[in-house]
Amino acid sequence: MKLFDVYPLYDVEPVAADDCIVIDKNGTEYLDLYGGHGVISIGHSHPHYIKRLKDQMDKISFYSNAVQNSLQSELAIKLGHMSGYNSYQLFLCNSGAEANENALKLASFYTNKSRVIAFDNGFHGRTSAAVAATNNLKINAPLNKQQHVTFLPLNNLELVKEELEKGDVCAVIIEPIQGVGGLDQGTTDFFKGLESLCKDNKVVLILDEVQSGYGRSGKFFAHQHHGITPDIISIAKGMGNGFPIGGIMIAPHIKPWYGMLGTTFGGNHLSCAAALAVLEVIETENLIDNAALTGAYFISQATSLPGIKQVKGKGLMLGVEFDFEVGELRKKLIYKEHIFTGGAMNKKLLRILPPLTAGKKEIDQFINSLKTVLELEKEVNEL
Ligand SMILES: Cc1ncc(COP(=O)(O)O)c(C=O)c1O
Repeated sequence: MKLFDVYPLYDVEPVAADDCIVIDKNGTEYLDLYGGHGVISIGHSHPHYIKRLKDQMDKISFYSNAVQNSLQSELAIKLGHMSGYNSYQLFLCNSGAEANENALKLASFYTNKSRVIAFDNGFHGRTSAAVAATNNLKINAPLNKQQHVTFLPLNNLELVKEELEKGDVCAVIIEPIQGVGGLDQGTTDFFKGLESLCKDNKVVLILDEVQSGYGRSGKFFAHQHHGITPDIISIAKGMGNGFPIGGIMIAPHIKPWYGMLGTTFGGNHLSCAAALAVLEVIETENLIDNAALTGAYFISQATSLPGIKQVKGKGLMLGVEFDFEVGELRKKLIYKEHIFTGGAMNKKLLRILPPLTAGKKEIDQFINSLKTVLELEKEVNEL
């Protein structure tokens, strides 16, 4: 059997990694400014993370959600404390799409309605309702297109109001900073307006923090830059530093009943150990402050480079927008400069999602490499 060929692959095979460095099978070291789609939060192969997972594996790796697992409540308490959402309830699953799937389903149960409001260029995953709320027709099969989703532009509260007042909407789902779409974000007025429109119309406000959460933006959650409190927050990616885990944090007014949601693998012992290790390292190493400081340094260094239109995003969730498409630039950064970066739906944008441990050294290395590559590009164009 061969693999189902759905991923265009770079010709690099990482076999080891340490903090912000990934090492390929030939021993070449790469600077990881992409964290494998924004997943690596506390750095590759962090010793505390490895120890916690190994210790857990020596005890028990898995049992189903039919029995007690105190690691889950330990995680809920620590996450509630660190994020400022002590009164919320945690449901654990395995990925970002699954988190949003459960968030949307819960909103529909809660309101007994089914239409969803999502936003232009938004990305929420590739499963049923999550992909339907993703603004990309190409990845929606006819099955997914049966869901009722209305896409609106960011920052237009009048249009949101018009739709919510129709009375058939269960949820508004939004990324505080768009990831895959290209780092656009709503204004504080827009987020505050969304919050009150949802309250007035009894619609569930879901903040998709799958990519922007867990300290990446320089606050625990990116929506906390706007002073709002959503009804549901979806989380994944950085939560397990590579160990698959996702979840939703649910406001106290949404009440559970037995069987309402469920999962076989969600909240298993190993994933909880990984997630606890991540929170412990974020706390002891002050990684949220580091993300804010390193991000500000990045912006101060990158904005003045030639060819750069603007630098978008917050903390270590950044997008560098050029006045040309960046496909070739990304290849040069990987193969010549040995630096991983990401792309976005906006083809002119480089996505930068390094481990939250990245500092001045890593940013300086990137800026110097970028200068070299841009200089080479300029020389070739002038010939
Ligand atoms: C904002 C956002 N939501 C949801 C997802 C889906 O997460 P997963 O790939 O873990 O299903 C992603 C993935 O990139 C994402 O960026």
